[in-house]
Amino acid sequence: MKIFASAKPVAQHAGPALVALVFKEARRLPAEFRGLPPATRSLIQQALETEDFKGKSGQVLTLYIPQDEPYRRVILIGLGEQRKFDADTVRRALGTAVQTLAALNVPSFIVPVTGTAKVDARTFGQVAAEGAELGGFQFADYLTKDEAIHFKVLEMTIAAGDRAKARRVEAGIVAGQTIAEAVNTSRRLVMTPGNALFPETLAEEAVKTAKKLEIKTEVLKPEQIKKLKMGGVWDVGKGSAHTPRVIILTYHGNRRKKTTDVCLIGKGVTFDTGGICIKPTARMTEMIGDMMGAATVLAATFGAARLKLPINLVTIVPAAENMPSHTAYRPGDIVTTMSGQTVEVISTDAEGRLILADALTYAERFTPQAIVDVATLTGAAEIALGNQAAALMSNDPALAARLQKAAEISAERIWELPMYEEYAEQIKSDVADMKNSGGRLAGTIIGGWFLRKFVGDNRWAHLDIAAMDWETAGKPYIPKGCTGYGVRLLIQFLTDWK
Ligand code: BES
Ligand code: MN
Ligand code: ZN
Repeated sequence: MKIFASAKPVAQHAGPALVALVFKEARRLPAEFRGLPPATRSLIQQALETEDFKGKSGQVLTLYIPQDEPYRRVILIGLGEQRKFDADTVRRALGTAVQTLAALNVPSFIVPVTGTAKVDARTFGQVAAEGAELGGFQFADYLTKDEAIHFKVLEMTIAAGDRAKARRVEAGIVAGQTIAEAVNTSRRLVMTPGNALFPETLAEEAVKTAKKLEIKTEVLKPEQIKKLKMGGVWDVGKGSAHTPRVIILTYHGNRRKKTTDVCLIGKGVTFDTGGICIKPTARMTEMIGDMMGAATVLAATFGAARLKLPINLVTIVPAAENMPSHTAYRPGDIVTTMSGQTVEVISTDAEGRLILADALTYAERFTPQAIVDVATLTGAAEIALGNQAAALMSNDPALAARLQKAAEISAERIWELPMYEEYAEQIKSDVADMKNSGGRLAGTIIGGWFLRKFVGDNRWAHLDIAAMDWETAGKPYIPKGCTGYGVRLLIQFLTDWK
């Protein structure tokens, strides 16, 4: 989508659609629209007076205007109560706007900067661009019938009213479009099915994009994985004809130093059948998304590079396909991880933690200031928090606080779970250093504790995003399909890194 910032007010523009964002309290024509010609003003005014349009969050009303006035349509979009207004209100409103216009086949629209002082002009530009680009996303790679493919809204103009404000809006638009592009990259990777996306092709995709940005790449192949003694990655992946890979991206955005600031790690199980402990058919299709942690950290790394963030990043993706076969690992097997620690396999379906264990060990060679891993690790995360927040576990309160801050700004919620020492007893094994499953209780925390055994003294945080992967109903800026959750959160976290 093309997105412009204009110094002119909406009254000095014309086009097929004007989008009016209106608070619930508004009973009179909002100031941004006072310069419009009489019929347009009167129609908006009547919709408000009659209370046909109440300005409730998400409410939409399309008004058709006589031909001789500048806009063919005015689309009223409710912002809800003014006291609840924030940046995410704008994201949602623009998501709704784009979805409404797409359904009407309207290619372009104008929207004035609207809201309260709580959202400044730059932020408005950013989140409006995010909402529009995210709301218009469709995974159409496999649709061969034109009628199944959504009409695309091609152009949005944000009317700022004056030059200085337009410049600030413009700066926000550039950031917002970059961030949204990263989120949509993650969504596309996740939605690409297992027959097309497996460790080798995931690595190819990562390398292809990284090459266009100033990101160094390294892909470990089976021989190197075995040579490094990455028993977790190898054993999980050995049941599949698609052999595992470990993808390493290095983005050096701070030229004044050589050290690594943050190491991002993402679970890259390109398809999780459960292995020999095979999953039931119901919802197994969702397991094409078991590489969402990988997609999230890769996309966030691309976003950081495009935004030229002054930070040094190393991103590690252990990628494997978890299959049942005569070469697959089994329950009862004892896996020797790269760290030297041994793991008794209770369930071959607790595979994510095994591949992440090796990635965490590998991360140590970069001596990062902080390690953040992202994974669709446990179904229990959905039981604990529903689909409203990702679970955060950490050994460092300051790092956890930084992530919380980023979560608030990006409106991607996280909730911290406790890491009491007693929980670790659940994964004690009689025959190995630990086991990979600790029973039904506190499944998400147990997953976190398992990973913690591999982080040494590093500052570390773990995000279990298993409950946040798919959107089934469709939201204003999250259409049905993969949510792309976590990319905005991580980019915000990296932006604020000092
Ligand atoms: N990939 C799954 C977790 C998952 C479940 C993600 C549902 C998204 C939606 C993971 O590999 C898994 O199977 N975890 C097991 C762990 C258990 C065996 C300890 C689980 O959650 O049941
Ligand atoms: Mn599994
Ligand atoms: Zn899994």
